[in-house]
Amino acid sequence: MEIKNYLSSQREKVEDALRRYIPEPAPPFAEHLASMKYSVFAGGKRIRPILCLAAAEAVLPDSDIQESLLPIACALECIHTYSLIHDDLPAMDNDELRRGKPTNHVLYGEAAAILAGDGLLTLAFELMTGNKATSLSPKQQLEITYIVARASGSFGMVGGQALDIAHEHQDYPFEMLRTIHRSKTGALITASVEAGAIGAGADSRARDALLTYGNCIGLAFQIVDDLLNATSTTEKLGKTAGSDEAKGKATYPAFFGIEGTRLKARQATSDALEALADFSSSADPLRALAEYIYTRSY
Ligand code: IPE
Ligand code: IPE
Ligand code: MG
Ligand code: MG
Repeated sequence: MEIKNYLSSQREKVEDALRRYIPEPAPPFAEHLASMKYSVFAGGKRIRPILCLAAAEAVLPDSDIQESLLPIACALECIHTYSLIHDDLPAMDNDELRRGKPTNHVLYGEAAAILAGDGLLTLAFELMTGNKATSLSPKQQLEITYIVARASGSFGMVGGQALDIAHEHQDYPFEMLRTIHRSKTGALITASVEAGAIGAGADSRARDALLTYGNCIGLAFQIVDDLLNATSTTEKLGKTAGSDEAKGKATYPAFFGIEGTRLKARQATSDALEALADFSSSADPLRALAEYIYTRSY
């Protein structure tokens, strides 16, 4: 399948929904809402929502499942965008460029950026539990909300971010590096795939396979992110290249070198594809997404 066309049509679907679900700036909260919108519409790849929709499609092809899952898909993008706003803050990675634009705090100030992140995280829970997601059963809504909460919090993304910051300029064993990557980035990506599987009513066999797929691409995603940080340019990435080394971050290239890191990413990608062995062509988008995550250039 042609991944480029697939990604752009899925991205459009997600962005249409984000435009519908993110409140228009209006008094008295206009400035706060504008700061949330600024980062959401700064131009992300929308990989997490697209993975959620693709996982659902793999389980339940030729249905309106993607439409039903749009509120969940958008919630995932809201949580991801919040994590980027906070990740870029001066007290965290102190970055001034994101998605090719000034970071949220550069434009709106630190307090407003913290609150934009808080607003997006909270909006995600409104989207997952509220009346926009009513094509799902209450049980499905509850299960998805739990999985996403768990993956975003102290045993997932937030915990991983805490470890990432604590291990700057430190010696650490490889196990710790893998834990950081799986939690700060892998957990939300895995939850995106799982949310799609739950929304589509996957049986336990399909869910297990998709969980393995999600774990593998989640790890691959951050390994490739490290690789790009070390080898690409600020212009191509839309965020500052070379920043990991400058900040003494725990990365795969610091451990394995560039070629060794490429091999690790390839291995994780192959493992992801293997997990889909029992799926028909309905999982071709997931297969193409795994390859895309490995070969992406930004
Ligand atoms: C960047 O994520 C941060 C990581 C978790 C590695 P993405 O590469 O998905 O960022 P956007 O959404 O496309 O900007
Ligand atoms: C980002 O990790 C992970 C989250 C935001 C949860 P990084 O700090 O390594 O990613 P970039 O390089 O800022 O996108
Ligand atoms: Mg970081
Ligand atoms: Mg960062």
